[in-house]
Amino acid sequence: MTFRIAPSILSANFAKLGEEVANVIASGADWVHFDVMDNHYVPNLTIGPLVCEAIRPCTTAPIDVHLMVKPVDRIVPDFAKAGANIITFHPEASDHVDRTLGLIRDSGCQAGLVFNPATPLTWMDHVMDKLDVVLLMSVNPGFGGQSFIPGTLDKLREARAKIDAYTARSGRTILLEVDGGVKVDNIAEIARAGADTFVAGSAVFGAGKDSDPQRYNSVLANLRTALAGV
Ligand code: DX5
Ligand code: ZN
Repeated sequence: MTFRIAPSILSANFAKLGEEVANVIASGADWVHFDVMDNHYVPNLTIGPLVCEAIRPCTTAPIDVHLMVKPVDRIVPDFAKAGANIITFHPEASDHVDRTLGLIRDSGCQAGLVFNPATPLTWMDHVMDKLDVVLLMSVNPGFGGQSFIPGTLDKLREARAKIDAYTARSGRTILLEVDGGVKVDNIAEIARAGADTFVAGSAVFGAGKDSDPQRYNSVLANLRTALAGV
């Protein structure tokens, strides 16, 4: 099993965002997780395509855009043009989920659905062929620094079973990502429940001294060590 770590720049220092992105990837992260909030679908307001475009030259790592916006479709091509590699959205925020997935793929990006803690996994059943990523929220969306909701572990096992059954019949892989409250002390348990891709915001960007460009090395190494034991 290959594991991916995707630090959420929501917890980065926005005054030095380009440096933060370059440092975290140089420290061993795999993806840049990019949280887009609109103060409508979720009660917070963050960053959009302009910021995605601005950080694009700072790394060659995939930029994983997590859309917490409603409506979804209008903004998708803007993020594709801004250099996003993966675009995920919440099914409740789109009137036509299958169409939105197709739009993301047609824009040249990988597509995924995001499941809130109370959102049933059945949303994925009829669109498996259009999914590259399934993202389970392990907190309610809107803020970094919240605690992992333990019920996500059973939901991960359920999602893993659905994905494995699909892979067995289609030969296609779908990544299973988890977002919210992921830390060094729970990442192994989350991996054992079936996740292969881990968003970590406060755990990564909260680590080390601001003046040290290597400050993310040890937290990323600790996350990897925990995963190595799975
Ligand atoms: C929450 C965001 C998360 C958040 C995770 O709505 O989608 O990506 O930044 O932050 P932590 O890892 O601090 O829970
Ligand atoms: Zn996120």
